[in-house]
Amino acid sequence: MQKNISSQSHRIKIIFIIGLLLTLTAIGSYFLSDDLIYLQVTEKLKLQNNSKALDFLLNPPAIIYRKYYFFDVQNPVGILNGEKPRLSERGPYTFRVEWDKKNVKFLNKDRLKYSPITTTYFEPSLSAGNESDIITFLNIPATGVINQMNQGKILGFNAIMVKASLDHLDTKLFIKRSIGQLISGYNDPLMELAELMDNAQNDGKFSLLKNNGTEWQSYVINTGYSDPMNVGKIASWNGLKKLNYWKSDKANQISGTDGTFYPPFLNRSSVIESFSPEMCRSFGLVYLKDNEIDGVKTFDFHLPSDIFSASELEHAGFCEDKCLGNGVLNISSCYGGVSGFISQPHFLNADEKFVQAINGLKPNKQIHDFLIHFEPTTGVPVAGNVRLQINFFLEPNEEIDLAKKIQPVLLPVLWFDEEVRLNLEIKKELSKIAFYVRLVFRIFFLKLNT
Ligand SMILES: *[C@@H]1O[C@H](CO)[C@@H](O)[C@H](O)[C@H]1NC(C)=O
Ligand SMILES: *[C@@H]1O[C@H](CO)[C@@H](O)[C@H](O)[C@H]1NC(C)=O
Ligand SMILES: *[C@@H]1O[C@H](CO)[C@@H](O)[C@H](O)[C@H]1NC(C)=O
Ligand SMILES: *[C@@H]1O[C@H](CO)[C@@H](O)[C@H](O)[C@H]1NC(C)=O
Ligand SMILES: *[C@@H]1O[C@H](CO)[C@@H](O)[C@H](O)[C@H]1NC(C)=O
Repeated sequence: MQKNISSQSHRIKIIFIIGLLLTLTAIGSYFLSDDLIYLQVTEKLKLQNNSKALDFLLNPPAIIYRKYYFFDVQNPVGILNGEKPRLSERGPYTFRVEWDKKNVKFLNKDRLKYSPITTTYFEPSLSAGNESDIITFLNIPATGVINQMNQGKILGFNAIMVKASLDHLDTKLFIKRSIGQLISGYNDPLMELAELMDNAQNDGKFSLLKNNGTEWQSYVINTGYSDPMNVGKIASWNGLKKLNYWKSDKANQISGTDGTFYPPFLNRSSVIESFSPEMCRSFGLVYLKDNEIDGVKTFDFHLPSDIFSASELEHAGFCEDKCLGNGVLNISSCYGGVSGFISQPHFLNADEKFVQAINGLKPNKQIHDFLIHFEPTTGVPVAGNVRLQINFFLEPNEEIDLAKKIQPVLLPVLWFDEEVRLNLEIKKELSKIAFYVRLVFRIFFLKLNT
């Protein structure tokens, strides 16, 4: 009886060892080390002809939704008379997003060039309302004109024309428009005027979503061929190796990847760099916590709370003389002089004064944080929520009737939540890779122990 059990456990052991050998043969190697894992993973992640990684980059197996939350202005007349703005959040208005890449070309073994194309489609079933919903929204072209007049950038005859149009055309600082018009474009008298004045190619329309389905940028990125740890890193954007929006070289750096693809082997002290043309800058995500998404173990990285802190911005060269405060980034140099600012939604992590200056804001980490869940071995983002808010600086102008009594305020106009989820199949594959790496480690330690 005793003997039987022991011989059975022997058999199990032997089967187990055969199993291990088969696994090892499948792995294609008989030695076990970190180098092996490194090779296995990096070989898979190189961007080369017919590689899975290239497939992943060109057709990210992901479901992407961009949800817009608009701030509907409740007291437009009051604001003109110096009242505190009262906002009511409307949304989500959800758009399905398709990422496409055109003109894909290897420049050499280490460099890949492509033009990303983003196309969005309204998804009524995932929205709180439909595209014909009307809201009261800031007249952004008019705000821009007032900003530029205050900065002395519109002079002489142009200033007279602009003032006349603000005073006499049907121009108001707050306008009623449908969600569809704001997103896809509406005719605006000031945009038409700008087109006349400096031949701007704007077709007289203003829209929040200018580049739907168009090719307006190109990237050259590293394929990881010579150094796999550089895979996905941007070599140039629109032909530029650095930006020219900011005052320092550091701020003007284009670093990291375009956000679809990241280098492998993350650890909890990694800083994950990306460049965002919409944010007009590069930024780093930092570790938040360990997590698990649909069976895939992840490291969650997020936008550090001091990303837009005034001292950080000043230190890095993102604001010249004075910053408006902590938690807001002036991006006017990259948006044609209009005083646009980005921040986290509802001024999360910003100075309390910005929240207090508005009625209707309530920052909340759970729903407003900018967060990406990475599978740490491969560096693949399994899911994420890119969340940012767009704001404009409203200021009085003595010479323009409609702007005489306004109190200076940073007015949020909308925030968005771009939600990316990898589809289930690729997640299964990822958990296989992760499982396989853990298995190799386990076998490695078994071997050490015997
Ligand atoms: C990829 O394949 C294309 C066409 O088959 C070829 O022209 C190109 O040189 C290849 N690129 C690399 C990096 O192997
Ligand atoms: C974006 O362009 C596509 C294709 O031209 C179109 O079907 C879609 O409705 C557009 N989306 C928006 C939000 O206008
Ligand atoms: C949008 O909603 C309104 C009221 O709920 C309705 O009257 C209208 O027909 C809807 N429009 C579309 C395009 O679905
Ligand atoms: C963590 O990863 C970074 C690169 O992302 C690397 O520079 C650093 O040495 C790593 N730290 C540890 C403790 O492995
Ligand atoms: C935003 O930056 C621009 C350009 O650097 C500057 O002229 C403007 O005064 C800034 N706006 C505010 C409100 O600080």
